[in-house]
Amino acid sequence: MRAALGRTHLVPGPYGETPVWAYNGTVPGPEVRVRQGDRLRVIVENALDEETTVHWHGVRTPNAMDGVPHLTQEPIAPGETFTYEFDAVDAGTFWYHPHQNSTVQVGRGLYGPLIIEEAEPVRVDRELTWILDDWRLTKSAVISDDFGNRHDLMHNGRIGNTVTINGRVPESIAVRAGERVRLRLINAANARIFALDFADLEPIVIALDGQPVTAHAPANGLVVLGPAMRMDLILDMTGRPGSRTTVVDRFYQGLEYRLLDLAHAEAVLRGGPPDWPVELPANPLAEPDLRDAIRHEVTFNGGMMGQMVMAEMGGSMGDGASGGMMGNMMNMMHGEGIWFINGKAATGHVMDPLLTLPHGRTCVLTMTNATAWHHPIHLHGHSFRVLSRDGQPTAHREWQDTVLMAPREKVEIAFVADNPGDWMFHCHILEHQAAGMMGVIRVSGKDERI
Ligand code: C2O
Ligand code: CU
Repeated sequence: MRAALGRTHLVPGPYGETPVWAYNGTVPGPEVRVRQGDRLRVIVENALDEETTVHWHGVRTPNAMDGVPHLTQEPIAPGETFTYEFDAVDAGTFWYHPHQNSTVQVGRGLYGPLIIEEAEPVRVDRELTWILDDWRLTKSAVISDDFGNRHDLMHNGRIGNTVTINGRVPESIAVRAGERVRLRLINAANARIFALDFADLEPIVIALDGQPVTAHAPANGLVVLGPAMRMDLILDMTGRPGSRTTVVDRFYQGLEYRLLDLAHAEAVLRGGPPDWPVELPANPLAEPDLRDAIRHEVTFNGGMMGQMVMAEMGGSMGDGASGGMMGNMMNMMHGEGIWFINGKAATGHVMDPLLTLPHGRTCVLTMTNATAWHHPIHLHGHSFRVLSRDGQPTAHREWQDTVLMAPREKVEIAFVADNPGDWMFHCHILEHQAAGMMGVIRVSGKDERI
């Protein structure tokens, strides 16, 4: 896989091509598709003018293959190559992207799908992968170069003005009445959150972040996907032959827009949805043991209006956090960080771990979003169960690697710290990550239960 400058038609004519950074000249990069249990070997060549790495988002790789510069490897210098090699332990929908200068490198088009197939996938008529992204384009369809500006850093990140699916502004997709599609959604945007409304169709969620979940209809009928999150849907095309179903993104109030149409052909494939089973086989994840868990509190704060939310939530934050708040104000004034995890903004390369976990033990993190903004929080090297939100147990105890936290929300997650090494733990709004909202969770090398 070669990372280099390229050009692509993001927007239809009369616009010309947009200069991008791309893997193998395409946006998204090539689909990497293997079977569960296969071993992947990817030789990455860096033909950019700056250092890069590749991170295999959501894949439980050994630490040295995780693609985090200065933490798990030396960055790949221009002109150099690096070989990533690891086993595809979990089946599911994953993706890859650089972990170096991510706001720019991902924002300019470096990302691609990584699909790990189950030995026995669910039966469908067709499988589709949609990598969603948005771009901030100028009037001449060039990517605006205002990456990392202070406004984006302090608010909800770099939200673009042009949404693409698989690197193209979508128009419509031809479907057939009665057809069953497995739709793999991947949000590769720097910052945009999607809430897709499939109108009269009734999507069923069968996997989140690659991990199977009890099949269910999405809450309020909206398919919500924060940056880096994935969702596998079963979508039965129940529209009338010849009709069009418009998919609308409703996440930002007042800014709803038509994403694309599903155009039902005149010819009918079958009279109604098939009755094929939709449950996916479980992946080999260790089940958290809550009776024997190590518990930690994690508070996210900072950003625009952060002081207000901190004051509001002050009662429940404890002394440590309010001490952190003062530190935060100082840091923010000195421009050393805008977002904080437990009072620390990570802005350099060398990172002391926020937490050190004994290998093999269950860890429960009680996370508080003490900000006025959403944050998709991602942990490397592990998938975790989402146990509760604001004290209410989740209906599906879903496995995720990236959990979207609403403003002021408290989310409890649990996982077995079974993958030794130093793992990134960060917000996947890339501007928030760049402005401090990241840290390292260390899983110590030896099994301390023995
Ligand atoms: Cu998708 Cu730390 O990464
Ligand atoms: Cu964030």
